[in-house]
Amino acid sequence: MKTSGVPETVLITGASSGIGLELARCFAADGCRLILLARSTAALETLAVTLRNDHAIEVIVLTFDLARPESPQAIFAELQSRGVTVDVLVNNAGFGASGSFSEIPIQRELEMVQVNIASLMALTALFLPGLLARNRGGILNVGSVAGFQPGPGMAVYYATKAFVLSFTEALAEELRGTQLTISVLCPGPTESNFGAVARGGRQRSHTVMKMTARAVAEQGHRAYRRGKITVITGALNHCLVFLVRLTPRWFPRRIVGFYNQTH
Ligand SMILES: NC(=O)c1ccc[n+]([C@@H]2O[C@H](COP(=O)([O-])OP(=O)(O)OC[C@H]3O[C@@H](n4cnc5c(N)ncnc54)[C@H](OP(=O)(O)O)[C@@H]3O)[C@@H](O)[C@H]2O)c1
Repeated sequence: MKTSGVPETVLITGASSGIGLELARCFAADGCRLILLARSTAALETLAVTLRNDHAIEVIVLTFDLARPESPQAIFAELQSRGVTVDVLVNNAGFGASGSFSEIPIQRELEMVQVNIASLMALTALFLPGLLARNRGGILNVGSVAGFQPGPGMAVYYATKAFVLSFTEALAEELRGTQLTISVLCPGPTESNFGAVARGGRQRSHTVMKMTARAVAEQGHRAYRRGKITVITGALNHCLVFLVRLTPRWFPRRIVGFYNQTH
């Protein structure tokens, strides 16, 4: 996307696989300059070569670990030192952990809170003043349908996504009246490395209907471009979120607990 002839610069966290990689393709197709960020440098470099060749765009690769509290400030400083201005921040990096809270090592859960919540919030705080000063661009945070109810069997992950949903919707309201677009993308089960990471490589007992990462990214990107705030992907996920609103709080809690234990 070009505003007054200048291509937007889009920073995408977690661009080395899954939804983030597909979001990178979507913004590349708009003609944006991209900053691809994750820990897996080789995967990012491979994607960067493809996107440069396919779309004749500039692509910058940054390797950072968002589980480290100092990373957001270091990322901001690195881009400032290169004279790069970010127009769109896509906070996509995230992971889950399956199991009971009492069984999952607290260090893993704290890393999850750092990546899914604290780094997302810190990057938002660092880049928002620039977006406001220029009054263009926006923020696309990747939440989940998990954010709409508690998730026994993945308690901390669901809670992190409830934060992303609540935080992004509140921010969008605070910034109503500006030209910025603030969106939260809420996918349901999606084909990616997410399941393997969450279960530590263990196979699931049976599969659920999953959307492809490409379909999720394309819906999210289209909705962001249209200025939509809360973006739930797929008709089935829309129905589930609607049902959660209609039922007493104990009901989705029980269903999700059952679902997560059988997976
Ligand atoms: N798949 C689903 O069913 C689903 C459903 C709803 C929401 N989501 C959300 O969608 C987002 C993307 O997940 P995905 O499904 O595409 O899974 P994925 O394929 O595992 O991708 C996760 C991305 O996050 C990056 N990442 C993880 N930890 C990181 C860290 N410490 N520092 C920097 N980058 C890190 C990974 O890169 P490196 O490993 O290279 O660092 C990878 O690029 C997540 O926020 C997830 O919660 C997924």
